[in-house]
Amino acid sequence: MLCLGIEGTAEKTGVGIVDEAGNVLSLRGKPLIPEKGGIHPREAAEHHAKWIPRLMAEACRDAGVELGEIGLISFSRGPGLGPALRTVATAARTLALSLDVPIVGVNHCIGHIEIGRLTTGASDPVSLYVSGGNTQVIAFNEGRYRVFGETLDIAVGNMLDQFARESGLGHPGGPVIEQLALKASEYIELPYSVKGMDISFSGLLTAALRKMEAGAGLEDLAYSIQETAFSMLVEVTERALAYTEKNQVLLCGGVAVNRRLRDMLREMCQEHHVEFHMPPPEYCGDNGAMIAWLGQLVYRYRGPDALEDTTVVQRYRTDEVDVPWMRESEA
Ligand code: ATP
Ligand code: FE2
Repeated sequence: MLCLGIEGTAEKTGVGIVDEAGNVLSLRGKPLIPEKGGIHPREAAEHHAKWIPRLMAEACRDAGVELGEIGLISFSRGPGLGPALRTVATAARTLALSLDVPIVGVNHCIGHIEIGRLTTGASDPVSLYVSGGNTQVIAFNEGRYRVFGETLDIAVGNMLDQFARESGLGHPGGPVIEQLALKASEYIELPYSVKGMDISFSGLLTAALRKMEAGAGLEDLAYSIQETAFSMLVEVTERALAYTEKNQVLLCGGVAVNRRLRDMLREMCQEHHVEFHMPPPEYCGDNGAMIAWLGQLVYRYRGPDALEDTTVVQRYRTDEVDVPWMRESEA
C-alpha cells in the first residue's frame, strides 16, 4: 500500500510517496522564500494551498502511479504555525475523502527521526534535531521519544536566519553563514549558554549583532557564531549520550546539512566510540517522505484516525506520541 504524505508545518510545502517497506518513490518540495523579513503564518498557508496540488501531481508522476493507487494519506498535525497546519490538514482530509482511503495525522518532529532511522539504519539513537523552528535532543526512553534537552528561547536555525537578515545577508541564513565562516581569520568571543541539558541562543544573537554594528567582520562573526552555537549543541548531545547510555547519534533537521556541525558532532562520537548517523541532505530538512513513512508506521500499529481526530495541534509535543514500533524493537 502506498502512502502519500503532506508536510507544511512552516514555510516549506512537501509531498512524498512511500511504500510499506519504506521505499521512497517520490519526494517533492517547494520552500517559500520571503522577499524580506520573516515568515508570515498566513503567507505560509497560502503557499501550501498553491503548491500542494501541484506537488501531488508531480509526486505521482515521479512515482509512476495514479492518484487512485494511493492507499493512505498522512499529514503533519503539528507542531507548527496554525494557519499552515490547517491548510495541510484540510488538503489531507479532502484528499482522503475524495479517494475514499484512510487518513493519519502525525507528529512532525518524530517524522524527522523516523526518516533518519529509515535512511541511515540507526536503530535507537540520541537524535539532535536542529532546524529553523526546533532545537531538541531526543531519545527513546520508557515507551516514548523523550526530549532530553532543548532551546529555552529561539531555535538554532532561527538564530542563524535572524543574524543573516539583520546583517543584510538574506534568507535563509544558515548556508550563507556556513560559506562566510570558511573565510574567517579570528574567533570573536560570544556568549556560550548551556543550562543543564538546555541551551539558549538569544544572548548569542544579540551579542553577535552588537559586534556587527560595532564593526566586526562578517566572516569572523559567522565563524564565531557557528563555533559557539555548535559547541553548545555538541555538549548537550554528549550529555544525553552519557545519560541514556545509547551508542548512536542521529543528526537531523535543516541545519544538519552544515558541514562544520557535522564534523564537530562526528568527532565527539568518535571520542566516545559511538556511531554517527546523518540522513542524505534531501531528507534533513522538512519533506513529505518523512510524513509518508511515519504515516505507514502509525497506520500499521494504530490504524486510521477518525476524521474528527484530524484536528491540528500547534504545540504537539514529541513525548505525547505513542511509538509502539520502538517498543517492539526494544523487546
Ligand atoms: P522545522 O519545521 O522542523 O522547524 P524548518 O521550517 O526550519 O523546519 P528546515 O528545512 O528543517 O525547515 O530547516 C531550515 C533551516 O535550516 C533554516 O533556519 C536554515 O537557515 C537552516 N539551514 C539550511 N542550510 C544550512 C546550512 N548549510 N547551515 C546551517 N543552517 C542551515
Ligand atoms: Fe522540521
